[in-house]
Amino acid sequence: MSPKIKTFKKIVTTSWLLVPLLFSTNIAASSLEVLHWWTSPGEIQAQAVLKEALLQQNVDWQDFAIVGGGGESALRVLQMRALSGNSPEAAQIKGPDIAEWAKMGMLNEVDNILPVELWDKHLPNIVKETISYEGHYMALPLNIHRVNWLWLNKAIFEELQLTAPTTWNEFITVAETIKKAGYIPIAHGGTTWEDSLLFESVALSLLGAEKYKQAFVQFDESVLVSQDMITAFTQFKQLYRYTSQDMQGKDWVDASQLLSDKKAAMQFMGDWAKGMWQASGKVVMEDYLCVDVPQSEGLFSYNIDSFVFFKKHNNKIQDNNKRKFVETLISSDFQRAFSIQKGSIPVRINMDMQSFDSCSQKSYADFNSNELVPSFSQNMATSSYLQTEMSKIISNYFHNDKATAEHVVKQLSLAIRAVNK
Ligand code: BGC
Repeated sequence: MSPKIKTFKKIVTTSWLLVPLLFSTNIAASSLEVLHWWTSPGEIQAQAVLKEALLQQNVDWQDFAIVGGGGESALRVLQMRALSGNSPEAAQIKGPDIAEWAKMGMLNEVDNILPVELWDKHLPNIVKETISYEGHYMALPLNIHRVNWLWLNKAIFEELQLTAPTTWNEFITVAETIKKAGYIPIAHGGTTWEDSLLFESVALSLLGAEKYKQAFVQFDESVLVSQDMITAFTQFKQLYRYTSQDMQGKDWVDASQLLSDKKAAMQFMGDWAKGMWQASGKVVMEDYLCVDVPQSEGLFSYNIDSFVFFKKHNNKIQDNNKRKFVETLISSDFQRAFSIQKGSIPVRINMDMQSFDSCSQKSYADFNSNELVPSFSQNMATSSYLQTEMSKIISNYFHNDKATAEHVVKQLSLAIRAVNK
C-alpha cells in the first residue's frame, strides 16, 4: 500500500472515531443525501427515474452532485468530507474502492438491509464479487455499462459509403477517409481518464482477455512490459492524429456532442454516451450506431455502478430509508426504467430486454456470453488512486509526440509497483 493511501487511511480511520462529536445532522427523516457525479443530460434523466421511484417510497433523494465524468472530482470531495467526519449517507463508489472504504470500517453492510438470499437470487456472480468484502455485500449495484464500444455517426458513414471497421487496419483507412472529407474521425474529450479509456479499448483488443487481466488486474510485470504491451501503446498513439483537438477543459459530453452534431464520425466511450444522445432526441440505429471496438468481438469490459452507505450515528431512521432505497432499486421495473435512460443494462439476471434498444440488447446478450474483464479506466480493476496515476502516465504518453512506447511501459509498470507496495 502506498504511503499516501496509508496516511489517508489513518486519518480517515481516526476521524471516524470523532464523527459523533464533530457534527450533528439536521436532515429530515425521509431524506437521503447521495454523493455522485451524474450531471450530464442522460444521467440527469436516469436520476429523475431514480428520484421518482424513491419519492413514491417517501424517500427524498438529496443530490450532492459533483461535475466531472469518471468521478475523479467526486471521489476527491468524498475523501474531504470523510476526513472532516461528514460523509454523506450514500455515495457512488464502485469496484475495488468499495473494499478500500470497507477496510476502514466506514461502510454499512448492505446484506443487513435486505436478506442475502435476495441478492444471491438476482445478481450475476461478477457483480456479487465486485460488491463483496470479507464475506459481506458492501454496496448496492445499480446497473452495468459496457466500455469497449465504438459509436458511429450514421449520416457520415452513409455519406462517405463507409462500413464499420472491424480491424485496426480498417479503422485507420476509414479514419483517413473521414479526415479527408473534412470531418473529425474520433470525438475525444480532454480528460486523462478518456485517454485511459481509449487505451484500455485498444489494449484489450490486442492483448485479449487473459493478458489484459494479467496486466491490469494481477499487475504481472512480465505482461506489463511485454512486446504485446508495446504494440498496444504504439497502436493507441496512432489514433492521436484522428482525435478532436483543442478539447482542454472539455470532456466526453462535449465529445459526444461533436458526434451528434455531425462534426465527428466516431467515438470510443462507454454506453452512458447513449443516455446523453437519447436525452437530446437522437435515436440509436437511426442517428448513431454501436459496434464492437475493432478486434474486440467476444470481449466485454464492464463497469458496474454502485452505491455504498456510510455509517452514521442516527441509524434508526436511516436504516428504514436504506431498506426502501435497496428494495426500489433492485426491482425489475426500476431496473428497466433506469437503464433505458442511462444507456446501461440491468444488473439483474433473467430480465426481459424487449423494451430496450438493440445496443442494450446486444450488450445484455454479450454480458452473458462474452469474456468479461473489469474496465480499469472506470475503476473496476484498481483503486481510483492507482487508476488516476495510471491515467496520468497513459495520457502524457498520448499527448507527447516524443514519448516512446518502450519507455511508457516501464513507467507504467514502475508506477503500479510503487502504488501497490
Ligand atoms: C460512471 C457512469 C457515468 C460515467 C460518466 C462512469 O464512471 O460509471 O455511470 O455515466 O462515468 O460520467
